[in-house]
Amino acid sequence: MVRCGGGKFTRFEGAVNNENLQSLQCDHIDILQQRYSQALEAHQYDALLISSGAAPMRYADDQAYPYQGFGPFVHWTGWPQLEHSWLLVRPNARPTLWVYAPDDFWHARAELPDDPWLEAMDIYLTSTPGTPTLDHCGRLAVVGDPVTLAGIAGDHNPPQLLANLEEARVRKTPYEVQCLDIANARAAPGHRAAIGAFHNGGSEFDIRLAYQAATRQPEPLAPYPSIVGLNEHAAILHYQQADNAPPERSRSLLIDAGYRYRGYGSDITRTTAGVGQGRFQALVAGLESLQRRLCEAVSPGTAFVELHRIAHLGLAALLQAADLVHGLDEETLVAEGITRAFFPHGLGHLLGVQVHDVAGKPTPPPPDAPFLRCTRTLEPGMVVTVEPGLYFIPALLQSLLQDGLGGHLNRPLLDELMPCGGVRIEDNVLVCESGHRNLTRAHLP
Ligand code: GLY
Ligand code: MN
Ligand code: MN
Repeated sequence: MVRCGGGKFTRFEGAVNNENLQSLQCDHIDILQQRYSQALEAHQYDALLISSGAAPMRYADDQAYPYQGFGPFVHWTGWPQLEHSWLLVRPNARPTLWVYAPDDFWHARAELPDDPWLEAMDIYLTSTPGTPTLDHCGRLAVVGDPVTLAGIAGDHNPPQLLANLEEARVRKTPYEVQCLDIANARAAPGHRAAIGAFHNGGSEFDIRLAYQAATRQPEPLAPYPSIVGLNEHAAILHYQQADNAPPERSRSLLIDAGYRYRGYGSDITRTTAGVGQGRFQALVAGLESLQRRLCEAVSPGTAFVELHRIAHLGLAALLQAADLVHGLDEETLVAEGITRAFFPHGLGHLLGVQVHDVAGKPTPPPPDAPFLRCTRTLEPGMVVTVEPGLYFIPALLQSLLQDGLGGHLNRPLLDELMPCGGVRIEDNVLVCESGHRNLTRAHLP
């Protein structure tokens, strides 16, 4: 074993002097050893080699694409930025971790933390990006981005084993829950600062900077690209731009931004109405009240598809109460796809080392919810987002207005609200043995 202790290996994100968290992380490694061993034994493998992945280089360029590590590697190490590294897992044996840390005067070296979970592993430093040499491993499975696996012996990404490994990520360990809780706590000041920058008349770019400054997290380390939209841009679900100049009038802000802590990401959205936007503010309040009710309904045994349906019925009631639609009952508004034109995405998804975490859809979503990313019946340990929305998306509303039921829509009011873009409110919720714990509201109203 080559230990790295003594070297300057402190850049591991979130290295903390938190004995409770460190102890939970050691338990987490033990749990993963059990879960992964069971999966290997179920598929008659003696060993599993996990690739961290590596950022591909752009064609005809000496720059790489942005990089986020392969899920199973991050599941074990919490280390999304490490490239060209490997982990070997075997039943009844210590894991072996190869950390790529070349002598490189262009870049900073990977730095291992002085954390006790690493005591459970044999660790080698490697200076070349190749695969480790494995002796006498028996029947070997290798998982990772196929681009990084070329030329390696063993079965590459066997689908049934991969499915079991993904299942091993669905119910979070106490360590993972704590990381997600901290990821929520760290995002909260960013959201407060972003709302403050909005009220101060900041541009989208200013608001992004305010978020990053308050979270002390550079955008590339975030779990996903932040979405910061003013006015009509709030209707673009994954809006990715940032206007440099503030609009003439700031009517609304939608910010969807998280924080990545030891690999685990929060995924939080808040929508704020500008001064003088009373009708839009009423919609924000209405959607917030619906969102809170949906969070309250998170508990073991709840079918997420059913929760998605309840969200649509609640949205139908809100559209009626706001006088955006009239003359149709709630069930009809859902059945005819009218609520879907206002809320085209799914209610939420599993959350973990990937923002849209794996294994959310053991069964396909229903035909009227094609973008729903979670069809699970909720179980203790799962962490889901609850993120209903109400948007004024011109293309979707246009077709609604033109079809046979268009006469039930309040066109003048739609025209009035269209410049506000839309509303989404998103929390991260842990399913408990009974009921739930809202990881976001503990830190952010
Ligand atoms: N931030 C992307 C999502 O909410 O799913
Ligand atoms: Mn989000
Ligand atoms: Mn989400």
